[in-house]
Amino acid sequence: MVSDPLFDVLRSYAILKSPKLIQRPSVSFKSAHNFLLDHVLLNPHFQEFPPSGQYQLSFWKWAVDWLEGLMTEEDELDERIYSHHVDLLQSTPSYVRINNVWFAMPQPSYLTYLWPTTRVMERPVYPGYASATLLESRTTIEAGTTGLRTWSASLVLAQYILTHPELIVARRVLELGCGVGFLGLIAASVQLEGRDPENASLWLTDVNERVLQRCETNLSLTCNDSSHHSNVRVQLLDWSDAVDPSRRPSVSGLFNEASPDVILGADLVYGPSIIPLLVGVLNMALRPRGEQHNPVAYIALTVRNPSTIADFIQQAGESLAIEEVAALPVVQNLFTQSTELGQDASQEVKIIIIKRRAD
Ligand SMILES: C[S@@+](CC[C@H](N)C(=O)[O-])C[C@H]1O[C@@H](n2cnc3c(N)ncnc32)[C@H](O)[C@@H]1O
Repeated sequence: MVSDPLFDVLRSYAILKSPKLIQRPSVSFKSAHNFLLDHVLLNPHFQEFPPSGQYQLSFWKWAVDWLEGLMTEEDELDERIYSHHVDLLQSTPSYVRINNVWFAMPQPSYLTYLWPTTRVMERPVYPGYASATLLESRTTIEAGTTGLRTWSASLVLAQYILTHPELIVARRVLELGCGVGFLGLIAASVQLEGRDPENASLWLTDVNERVLQRCETNLSLTCNDSSHHSNVRVQLLDWSDAVDPSRRPSVSGLFNEASPDVILGADLVYGPSIIPLLVGVLNMALRPRGEQHNPVAYIALTVRNPSTIADFIQQAGESLAIEEVAALPVVQNLFTQSTELGQDASQEVKIIIIKRRAD
């Protein structure tokens, strides 16, 4: 992996890390200035898929302060950095009033997640790194759903997939509760990079129409590998249909058509009421469809309330076989290490493997 300390600044900008948490590397004015100008401000990727204006304003304020602190009398800041900062200062964020106090509404933003690759890429965001770009909301709940942003369980499961590509290469994969599609974008890259990509398929499912639309848009962004994947489908699937006798046949039909070898899911268990639905849908998804067909589910659970997670494991364990994956070493947390997702980032994430019980 590239260990350029300036790269960490770029990566932080790409995922909207709060500038107060970004470390200022010990480099000369010239190195910092040229890097920020060439790789961040003038980077064609960030010009096409920029972080929100709100974020850029805080980032460039931080960057200008940093550069001014490094400057000697002979140094000069490029005019383009100053004028970009001034333009941002002049653009007005939208405000909402809550209890007579005005707050800036967090704007939806592009986020670009980067991971090291040995693949030679035509237009990398940064040499030696693959990327996935998404338009995400920056709120926890919006329009009645938690699905419009990426949650840290997805980041952890994405790392697991990147380090175990054989699990999904040339396989039929179905994701439950896919949200805006981060895990799907990573899975699409892994499938396309692996052998026999024409045998691979990817079905991304969720209950919320707006979430599905956002997911579809993200998958088709031309900068993402997923836009070249010929077998990706975004599909409505409500887990509650799996426990409703009148709607079960349509869920069966969907799983028969997708015939998934691998089920993925991240941050799906956030309350007790969801547990029977999820166990119901997992039982249907994990049914073998053919003699050699033994589907497996990899589910990443964010431990907000340990008793809810214990209840899920206990209820799923009544009909299915469950095994926990040993914790990933923190140092290897590719995405979470540099991501600031507020409270969500500090919670433990468990990955469990779920299979059909051997009779
Ligand atoms: C916390 S979000 C996680 C999104 C994504 N997996 C991630 O980790 O970033 C939970 C997701 O589950 C979906 N969901 C909730 N209830 C559902 C149901 N009954 N059927 C299908 N999806 C559901 C939501 O729409 C949302 O996208």
